[in-house]
Amino acid sequence: MKEVKVGLIGFGTVGQGVVKLLRENREDLSARIGGKISLAGVADTDWKRPRKVSLEKKLRLKNAEQLIRDPQVKIIIELAGNFPGVKEMIIDALKAGKWVVTANKALLAKFGDEIFSAAKKHNSEIYFGASVAGGIPILRVLREGLCANRVQSIYGIVNGTCNYILTRMQEAGLDYSSALREAQEKGYAESNPDADVEGIDASHKLAILIRLGFGLNLPLEKIFRRGISRLSHLDLQAASELGYRIKLLAIARESNGLLEARVHPTLVPEESLLASVRGVYNAVYVQGNFVGPTLFYGQGAGMDPTASAVMSDVMELARNLIQGRPAGRIKPEGYETLNPHRLKLRPMDDLIGPYYLRAWVKDQPGVLAKIAGILGKHMISINSVIQREVRDGKSVPIIIITHQALEKNIQKAVREINNLKVVLNPLQLIRIATELE
Ligand SMILES: NC(=O)c1ccc[n+]([C@@H]2O[C@H](COP(=O)([O-])OP(=O)(O)OC[C@H]3O[C@@H](n4cnc5c(N)ncnc54)[C@H](OP(=O)(O)O)[C@@H]3O)[C@@H](O)[C@H]2O)c1
Repeated sequence: MKEVKVGLIGFGTVGQGVVKLLRENREDLSARIGGKISLAGVADTDWKRPRKVSLEKKLRLKNAEQLIRDPQVKIIIELAGNFPGVKEMIIDALKAGKWVVTANKALLAKFGDEIFSAAKKHNSEIYFGASVAGGIPILRVLREGLCANRVQSIYGIVNGTCNYILTRMQEAGLDYSSALREAQEKGYAESNPDADVEGIDASHKLAILIRLGFGLNLPLEKIFRRGISRLSHLDLQAASELGYRIKLLAIARESNGLLEARVHPTLVPEESLLASVRGVYNAVYVQGNFVGPTLFYGQGAGMDPTASAVMSDVMELARNLIQGRPAGRIKPEGYETLNPHRLKLRPMDDLIGPYYLRAWVKDQPGVLAKIAGILGKHMISINSVIQREVRDGKSVPIIIITHQALEKNIQKAVREINNLKVVLNPLQLIRIATELE
C-alpha cells in the first residue's frame, strides 16, 4: 500500500483533533484513498502543557523546520495559528515542494494573494477548507459542488461565538455582558473576545468566501464591518416581537455588476432557515443562478469538526499524490480567470433595504413626531413602531421599522436624530434582510 507522510505544525485544539482522527478513522481513510496517511512528526513550541490527546514521544518535535526540510514529508498541515513568521513558514514549505493544508483564516484573508502566488510559482498546492465554517465543507462546495453556477448571494452565520451570545440573549433574556461571560466560561469565547464580537473573524471568513464564490480578491478593509457588542437585550426582544431574529451575518450579494460585502448584525425573518440556527452552530446560505437557494449547516469550530475539514483536504491531496496527479489542477480560488464578471464593490451608502431603529428618548409628548419628521425629511417612511411603557418615569424606548430606504439617507437621519435633546443615547441601527427564505 502506498504511503503519504504528513507533518503537523501545532498540537493545540485542532492539531490534537487531527491526530485523534488519523488514529480512529485510519482504516476508513485508507479504504477511501487507496493508501496510507502516516504522521512523520508534530512540531509545537510547548510540550509541557497537558493535552487531551496523547502523542508518542518520538513524534514530538520542537521545530517545524525539521518537517519542512524532511524529504519524506509530502504534506505540511499548519495548525499553529497566527504567530509571527507563520506566512513565511508556509511560503517556505511551498518553496520546499510541500503541499500545504491550513485553517488559518486570518492569514489567508490578509495575505491570500501572496500565498496563492507562491503555491503557483513553486508548482505546489494550498488547501484551506477548515478556514471557514469549521466542519461545514462550504469552500469545497463553492469550488466544486456549485462551480457550474454563477453565485448570486452568500449569507453566512460563520462565527459560533456571536451566534451563541445572540441565542442566549434572545432565549434566556441575558444582557450582552452576561451572555459573553457565559460563552467565555464554556470555552466558546476568548478572554479577549474582540476578534469574534466585533465581526473581525467573520470578515476574514467573508473575504475567503468571496474569493471562492465570486473569484474576487477583496482587500479586508473594503468589507463593511459592525460587531454585536452594542446590541442590548431589548433589541433581541423587540426583534422577536416583530417577527425577526438577530444574527451576525457575513453577506456577499451581487446585483447589476456590483458586489455588497458586509458583516453586521442583521434582522432575519423568524421563518427563514438562518433564523433557526442556534448556539455555536454555523450555517451558510448560497444562492446560485441555476441551483437556486441552498443551505449548509453544522459545527463551525471545535477539535473534532475542524479536524474533519482539515483531514478532508489532506485526503484529497494524498489521493492526488498516490495517483501521481500534478499540483495545481484546481486553483485555490477555483477560478482560472479571476473576477470574470468584472464586479465592483457597491458603496455602503448605496445599500437599499428596510431598517430597525431603536432610540431611548425622554418621556414627553411630541418626541415620536419629531423623529418621524426627520425620517420623512430624508424620504424614509415608517412601516411600524413599538413604544414601550415607561420604566423609570423619565426615559422610554421607541422602536421603528422602516420601509425600503437608502443607507445614505438613513445615516443622515440618524445623525440628525442623535442631535435631538430628547434623544438620550445614540440610536441603534440594524439592517434587515427580508430577502432571505
Ligand atoms: N479552534 C477551532 O475550532 C478552529 C476552527 C477553525 C479554524 N481554526 C484555525 O486553526 C488554527 C489552529 O487553531 P487552534 O484553535 O488549534 O489553536 P491553538 O489551540 O492555539 O493551537 C496552536 C498550537 O500551535 C502552537 N504553536 C504556536 N506557534 C508555533 C510554532 N511556531 N511552531 C509550532 N507550534 C506552534 C501553540 O503553542 P503555544 O500554545 O505554546 O503557543 C499551540 O499549541 C488557527 O489558525 C485557527 O484560526 C481553529
